[in-house]
Amino acid sequence: MEVIYKIMAAYTANASPIESAAFTAPTGAALVADNGEFSRKFNRSDFIFEHGLANHPMFELSALAKLANRIPKFQNFVYWQNGRVKVDDKWSANPAPRLSLEQTIEGIAGNDSLVVLKHAEQDPVYGPVLQEILQRIYSFTSPDAQRDIVLGESLIFLNSPNRKTAYHLDLESNFLLQVAGVKLVHVFDCADRSLTPHLELENHCGGDDNGAIYKPARQNDAHFHHLTPGHGVHFPSMAPHWVQNADELSISININYDLVSVHHRLKRVYRVNRMMRRLGIKPTDPGKSRVRDALKQRLSTGMGAMRKTLRPKRDPTDSYPVRRPTPVSGSSLEARRLDSRSST
Ligand SMILES: [Fe+2]
Repeated sequence: MEVIYKIMAAYTANASPIESAAFTAPTGAALVADNGEFSRKFNRSDFIFEHGLANHPMFELSALAKLANRIPKFQNFVYWQNGRVKVDDKWSANPAPRLSLEQTIEGIAGNDSLVVLKHAEQDPVYGPVLQEILQRIYSFTSPDAQRDIVLGESLIFLNSPNRKTAYHLDLESNFLLQVAGVKLVHVFDCADRSLTPHLELENHCGGDDNGAIYKPARQNDAHFHHLTPGHGVHFPSMAPHWVQNADELSISININYDLVSVHHRLKRVYRVNRMMRRLGIKPTDPGKSRVRDALKQRLSTGMGAMRKTLRPKRDPTDSYPVRRPTPVSGSSLEARRLDSRSST
């Protein structure tokens, strides 16, 4: 908890009372309502939903530039790329001369860039509305899903007109809420191992952000969503996707959840499988043997604990803050509190 308070204090110290009081956002069902699909489709298949933040002044560029100024300058709290990328580029591609964050945001309407502002749910201005979305979407999911969710976070994306976001997958279960501009979203089946073989997932879980490889021949298998302000799309964990912005600046919110089944189980199996493969041993794929999967999870957990013990201690604020949805009736979330993302 100490980590959370230090980080929130850092945000708060940089926010003026005027900024904090400047915005009134919708709440409750006017913010995001249950359309009946969250429970049925969460982490199974993509679906569209509506939200109440279309073109909201809180997410205009001038306000987001102030948020970017407030973001604590810790590792991984902000990310930006400059230059146009292709669908099969690496996530780390930065094909144009590197601009400063301030230059990138100021000129984003014309500089072919992407900015990701992370952990905005911890910010005193944006925190209340983003935490309410996190909590509401969580409450719309099934009791089984709620038992699986351990952590919620949010990001804000700023994308230049016509810019692509290259093909990739995320381990988190994602909800992308379009606030301004239009995105053309291509999302693929999360469970299709002929599209995303175990080897690609092993590489991703081993730390390779480019583990998922775009296959042009499979493009027609994608679901296509024309995402306009006021609409959102759900990407299940491990569902590959790529995005094409339309011809105007795009602002969107990403709401995402870590899952016990993925971050604390499957990821650990894949990590051990990757290690075995490097030692010349062909591993059994996850899901084929409960006993082997359990042993690999324990081995990975033990190795992680050993690495933690041996590596130099970091500044405690130089890690992810933690936002856990408040358990609702039937959820055992509170009973299974786990360490922050840095422990996985
Ligand atoms: Fe993504």
